[in-house]
Amino acid sequence: MTQRLIRGRLLSFLDAPQSLDDHAAYRYEEDGAVLVEDGVITTSGDYATVRAQAGEGAIVTDHRPHLLSAGFIDPHIHYVQAQIIGSYAAALLEWLNTYTFVEEQRFNDAEHATRISAAFFDEMVRHGTTTAVAYCSVHKASAEAFFAESHRRNMRMIAGKVMMDRNAPEALRDTPQSGYDDTKALIASWHGKGRQHVAITPRFAITSSPEQMEMAQTLMREYPDLHMQTHLSENHAEITFTKELFPWCDDYTGVYEHYELLGPKSLFGHSIHLSDREADVMSETGSVAVFCPTSNLFLGSGLFDLKTLDERDKPVRIAIATDVGGGTNYSMLRTVDEGYKVLQLQGQRMTPLESFYRITLGNARALSLDDRIGSLEPGRDADIIVLDARATPAMALRMETVGKLSEELFLLQTLGDDRAIVETYIAGAPAKSVL
Ligand code: GUN
Ligand code: ZN
Repeated sequence: MTQRLIRGRLLSFLDAPQSLDDHAAYRYEEDGAVLVEDGVITTSGDYATVRAQAGEGAIVTDHRPHLLSAGFIDPHIHYVQAQIIGSYAAALLEWLNTYTFVEEQRFNDAEHATRISAAFFDEMVRHGTTTAVAYCSVHKASAEAFFAESHRRNMRMIAGKVMMDRNAPEALRDTPQSGYDDTKALIASWHGKGRQHVAITPRFAITSSPEQMEMAQTLMREYPDLHMQTHLSENHAEITFTKELFPWCDDYTGVYEHYELLGPKSLFGHSIHLSDREADVMSETGSVAVFCPTSNLFLGSGLFDLKTLDERDKPVRIAIATDVGGGTNYSMLRTVDEGYKVLQLQGQRMTPLESFYRITLGNARALSLDDRIGSLEPGRDADIIVLDARATPAMALRMETVGKLSEELFLLQTLGDDRAIVETYIAGAPAKSVL
């Protein structure tokens, strides 16, 4: 098998940075390289050392002066909403009913699902997102199309067909039994095939009957290693309606708790308005709160209280995601920039090192996949991106005054988007330059 040697300024996180200049949290090599074989990183470090381990026939690509990083990870995105990003609505429930629940009906058509999947994966590659956790529509065909495209591109993806059997148009409703059967069929066809992972995906408490929640619980028991994804505590009207639908539960989190959907592989999109009790139970179960800043701002949902959740006696695990199409940009750079501003409004800080940690190793840890993705350490999948902090004239001008790595990262975060992604390697193969 051919070896590929990718040369550039290497940045790889080892742990969560504790301060503005926590050098122990990452590895940085001014002249660095990654050696890839069979889609996996075999060595990474300074160029001379890595070069010495490469065979004569290794393909060498020199990306200097650009940065090499692990690919970005987006742990909450709706691929079926690619054509409703930026739809004008006052708040969540109006947005869902007016646009989302109309648009997702189109994914009944496998041809449409195939076309949008291809376009979606092009955007992932263009924006340097190498792993995402995606919601498909209620239709099994929408998930089939997604996984087929992901597998064809050899990308590590997690996805599920949404289970929803009430409070939505007829054409978008499954039943407790069909939601269960379709999810099981998807697991049988796709889970563990190449780099594909199936997630159990009850959309949110409002659109699942108690009977369907029980079916989700059964799936969790049958497949304890699978991820589970849903939405939680995004909007006040949503919370009120949920409490009306499940009066026997303590609170919104209590609904998922009641059906045993909490746990270390459970991802809860938004988790904005949590009480202390809810945060405690999230913490005790190792559940993950997914911060979706562009979406939370766009839909006016609220300000995610990241530092309180992170630093309380019982800390809650946190990921950060786009939530396209409630989210307004595919870029994890744009996402973390908006996240920074959400924290600023609450008197909280997120250092540039922390931002880049969160969109790489931090999100990998939140997915319990840090042994496979999220860094450039040996043994990890060779999902690598090349970042150019001079990608636009405005960035190049600003770079003239930048002296430190943390400043460069902050500039990438503040002014960067897909234009700053020079190349995206998927399992060691260049994918962006060949789009
Ligand atoms: N809650 C239930 N479904 C959705 C969705 O598609 N987007 C967002 N932002 N929240 C939801
Ligand atoms: Zn969502």
